[in-house]
Amino acid sequence: MIKSICYISNKNDNLPDSVLNKLLHSIIKDNNQIQVSGILMLQNNYFFQIMEGDPNTIDALFFKIRKDQRHHGLIKLLEISLVDRLFSDYQSGSFSVIRDFLNLKKLKIYFDWIKEANILEANKLIELTNNFLKHNK
Ligand SMILES: Cc1cc2nc3c(=O)[nH]c(=O)nc-3n(C[C@H](O)[C@H](O)[C@H](O)COP(=O)(O)O)c2cc1C
Repeated sequence: MIKSICYISNKNDNLPDSVLNKLLHSIIKDNNQIQVSGILMLQNNYFFQIMEGDPNTIDALFFKIRKDQRHHGLIKLLEISLVDRLFSDYQSGSFSVIRDFLNLKKLKIYFDWIKEANILEANKLIELTNNFLKHNK
């Protein structure tokens, strides 16, 4: 079984761009090392993350993220079990940070394709992502 957690949080106002960029780079590197797939978006100073992987790995990671001082106001939106990873075919299964229009477009195309499968859990995550994007353009 795969565990998936989706949350939203506020980026701290005083977080310098250099620190943020370093953080985003290390997140991609570290997640690929521990086989955590998914996405992290930053829009309007809100983080939105979906992470999926081995349940123990996800629990340990989420525990760390919750305590991280670089953001605040974290709200867990969804915690579910999946038979298969939702993002295994997105960017070859590697964890992605989405910050520009082109990557957002790629994600939308991928979600349109995934929606065809009509998997309840996948649909919930897609809906949460779409809601987030609708309110944070
Ligand atoms: C918004 C946000 C999202 C994060 N997402 C991840 C993540 O997906 N993977 C990760 O390894 N660290 C992530 N981090 C960083 C972790 O909180 C933590 O600093 C990092 O895992 C290193 O922890 P360690 O030094 O205890 O190993 C995130 C931090 C923030 C602020």
